[in-house]
Amino acid sequence: MTATHRVRPAEPGDVPAIVRVYRSDLIDGSWWRFDHNQRMSAHLEDLTPFQQWLNGGPWMNPDYLAVHLRRLAAEGHRAYVAEEYVPGTGPGAGWPVRGEIEVFLYHEAADPDRLAAHIGVLQVERGFFRRGLGRALVERACREAAAGGARKVTVVCGRDNLPFYRKCGFSGLTPVVTVEGGLPKSREAGRPPLAPPPEGLFARGVWPSVAGVHPGPGQTWFLYRAQPYDDPEFTAHRLEVSLLDLPAAPGRGLRQAVAFFRENQIDPNEVILYCLAEPDGAGPDTSFSPLGRAALAELQRWAAALGYTHFRTYLTGPEFSKLRFFFRMSEVSREYILRRFLTDSEVHADEQA
Ligand SMILES: CC(C)(COP(=O)(O)OP(=O)(O)OC[C@H]1O[C@@H](n2cnc3c(N)ncnc32)[C@H](O)[C@@H]1OP(=O)(O)O)[C@@H](O)C(=O)NCCC(=O)NCCS
Repeated sequence: MTATHRVRPAEPGDVPAIVRVYRSDLIDGSWWRFDHNQRMSAHLEDLTPFQQWLNGGPWMNPDYLAVHLRRLAAEGHRAYVAEEYVPGTGPGAGWPVRGEIEVFLYHEAADPDRLAAHIGVLQVERGFFRRGLGRALVERACREAAAGGARKVTVVCGRDNLPFYRKCGFSGLTPVVTVEGGLPKSREAGRPPLAPPPEGLFARGVWPSVAGVHPGPGQTWFLYRAQPYDDPEFTAHRLEVSLLDLPAAPGRGLRQAVAFFRENQIDPNEVILYCLAEPDGAGPDTSFSPLGRAALAELQRWAAALGYTHFRTYLTGPEFSKLRFFFRMSEVSREYILRRFLTDSEVHADEQA
């Protein structure tokens, strides 16, 4: 039987096709822009590259995507494209790209000798769903992760995609909640002295094992966004990265954390807080324990001192249930972390290859 689709590593020449794939996810070409905090519909051709980025990240603009893919490769992570065969000799015939997946390899915080992989993004071109392209991309990503030494693959997805990932052999369900809220008025005068993050923080392997607790939403994103794009419009937005000493929290073992205070590009009063704390294995599952009460309070104090009035962050489901009584915050959305443990035969087969 003739193959109708195939998966291969992404190449620099794929950038325009990958952008087309991600842009297809904006149903009916429904682009938007923000004007004085008001969301308005817009046309692609009227948007600056940065405004395109706001519609969905570096995948929405070829210049940003080219930088993004270069960094991904330089850090040792992986990107694959799926192509589907179109018979004939006319325009469009051959093997056009119809999907892309990106996979990050990292050291597990609880056991730095072990490698794990995380699916950062996955997109099949709208109009080409349900033809096996998504599964082919996930399977290739899992196989290559195993070949690279990973023992498990994780992904964060919305409820809609749970059936798809289950079909791809993922199981387990750890809810991750995006929350937002107001910040307490800071009593501190001026800007607190932020300690710079450790050197080499963003180098492959070092970052997750030093700072990473979970491959939750935001982790892989800010890894790349934290490195400024060569674009004044983008870099005009603040990003503070700092080491924080956290107050001791019983049973949590969070002592030191790398904190990211990232200005919301749409509302400069809002900060997006990411906290990656070094675990000591005291919690029930260190791989999903980014924040405790003391850590969140400390982060909020700093964010307020930096001049922000609102915050947005990510918590695991059980944490949100506990912390909602102590902080003025509400749930914005809920996603799920799924894991697929690679089988011995998968790992073994790739070791042989
Ligand atoms: C999620 C996505 C990648 C799936 O890709 P796809 O190419 O349509 O999936 P496949 O055809 O490989 O499907 C594999 C299996 O999952 C099933 N499946 C796919 N999407 C499903 C859905 N939304 N609900 C239920 N089952 C689904 C398919 O029916 C198929 O099952 P089968 O083998 O029994 O027939 C695609 O829908 C997509 O790009 N969505 C938009 C972006 C997105 O949500 N990305 C994921 C971010 S985590």
